[in-house]
Amino acid sequence: MQIENKRAVITGAAGGIGQAIAALYASAGARVFLVDRDAARLESVIAELGAGHTDQVHGIALDVTREEAVARMVDEAEGALGGIDVLVTCSGAITERELEDMSLAEWREIMGANLDAVFLACRAVFPIMKRQGSGRIITVSSQIGQRGAPRFTHYAASKAGVIGFTKALAREAAPHGILVNSVAPGPVLTSFNRDLRAETLDGTEAALPLGRAAQPEEIAGAALLLASSPHGDVFVGQTLGPNSGDVML
Ligand SMILES: NC(=O)c1ccc[n+]([C@@H]2O[C@H](COP(=O)([O-])OP(=O)(O)OC[C@H]3O[C@@H](n4cnc5c(N)ncnc54)[C@H](O)[C@@H]3O)[C@@H](O)[C@H]2O)c1
Repeated sequence: MQIENKRAVITGAAGGIGQAIAALYASAGARVFLVDRDAARLESVIAELGAGHTDQVHGIALDVTREEAVARMVDEAEGALGGIDVLVTCSGAITERELEDMSLAEWREIMGANLDAVFLACRAVFPIMKRQGSGRIITVSSQIGQRGAPRFTHYAASKAGVIGFTKALAREAAPHGILVNSVAPGPVLTSFNRDLRAETLDGTEAALPLGRAAQPEEIAGAALLLASSPHGDVFVGQTLGPNSGDVML
């Protein structure tokens, strides 16, 4: 198997896409350490994926925007798995607001959830991967970071930031054998968008060239490719777009 016995940390693993990535990785023989701040949902994901394979699935509930919590996440993951070969940063948050009505607090909340969290997790795993002389980091950005969308200046800026961060870190990390890439999904059928306005959600799927949003499982394959060897071995600083055709680069 392409990622058999690899040790992967996945944030946002109680969410739709993170859970799908965790399930695909585990089914491909990876050992996973799952992280989310939603303790109840995380517990049930760990129980479901870990049934019969308790050594394969571990996790911890914490807030990945907090520096000390991320340090703890990496310590616990290293302790449970014996090292970290793959990091997937999949946690994220979204709200909807016209620029004029957006408070600095709301702006910062979204930047913190989507960008600070990626910085903190990558910085924390980097020394471990460097010591190992290998690693894979997969950030989850968004097609909104590539194309923009009205009432999402904060979300678009944070996700465009993730893509820029990914490219810069990819150049810094590749000489150490660490490959850094991003997955930028289009609309995906999870509860992520549940609080968005009806006018925003209406017609979204019809506007896509494919005419439909994705299921989380259809996003997970891109994260598997980027973690796998040999098929993912020469992706460096790329942003893969499983997005139903919303953005074409
Ligand atoms: N669903 C979509 O349409 C879509 C489209 C493009 C990109 N994305 C991105 O995909 C990623 C996953 O989204 P999803 O659709 O699975 O959403 P989701 O809401 O199902 O999952 C997100 C998870 O992240 C967790 N989380 C949020 N903030 C956290 C924090 N500070 N600390 C720890 N955990 C935290 C939540 O508890 C939740 O379980 C996000 O980064 C999102 O921006 C989603």
